Amino acid sequence: MKVTSPTLVAAVLAAAQVTLAAVAQVSTAAPTATPPSVSAPTGGQTSAKRVRPNPTNLQVLPKQLTGDQVHEIMEQWEAALGGSCATCHTADPKNIGPNGKPKLNFADDTKEEKAFARKMYQMTEEINQNYVAKIPNSGAPVTCGTCHRGHLGPEPFVAAEEDGAPKAKNAASASVVPTVK
Ligand code: HEC
Ligand code: HEC
Repeated sequence: MKVTSPTLVAAVLAAAQVTLAAVAQVSTAAPTATPPSVSAPTGGQTSAKRVRPNPTNLQVLPKQLTGDQVHEIMEQWEAALGGSCATCHTADPKNIGPNGKPKLNFADDTKEEKAFARKMYQMTEEINQNYVAKIPNSGAPVTCGTCHRGHLGPEPFVAAEEDGAPKAKNAASASVVPTVK
């Protein structure tokens, strides 16, 4: 298994492009590369350039990550799961954005999907550190996309019948180990 499947890379790139396009609409930054967040916020004036605030409620990701770094990871998760930021983050009805819709409160922990994602992140890290890293010369870390493949609920794998798989009536239950008689 190689690092990242072309489809995954394409999905991530596509998501990044969409987001860059969205960012480009509200900022004057060149849409070609990830814009470094160098524009120092001057005074309280509303600048067209978005400065991503540093996170305040990281419990599983490294706490020293900057707002931009967290954002990059979030875009990867979003692409891997095929949802949106709102899949895991709660809208705050008291904070209405310029488009008239409530903004998401990213530090809020109400949605259970956010809690699931924390567990999933820890699981993925554990798989990579304790197992994948022990395969000599392995350059294939497990990512959210390895299992999710663009879906919130990973589809059960059903082997093709020509590969000798029995008719998969139990495809949904992952750990079906045949009983030894
Ligand atoms: C699969 C669920 C999921 C999706 C989708 C997701 N996030 Fe997150 N997000 C999380 C989790 C979990 C954390 C907290 C991580 C931690 O505890 O270390 C988080 C944290 C954050 C934070 C830091 C909040 C703080 O102050 O601590 C920001 C900002 C954020 N997400 C933005 C986004 C954006 C923008 C998107 C869409 C591009 C997005 N997220 C999509 C699960 C998700
Ligand atoms: C080893 C495979 C695997 C990996 C890697 C993985 N997941 Fe999952 N994830 C699952 C399975 C299986 C489920 C349960 C799906 C179900 O019951 O429908 C799940 C469920 C979830 C759910 C809850 C979905 C729901 O229906 O509410 C979220 C959110 C999630 N994963 C996020 C992530 C994120 C974020 C990552 C990467 C940090 C990740 N997962 C990595 C296999 C994986």
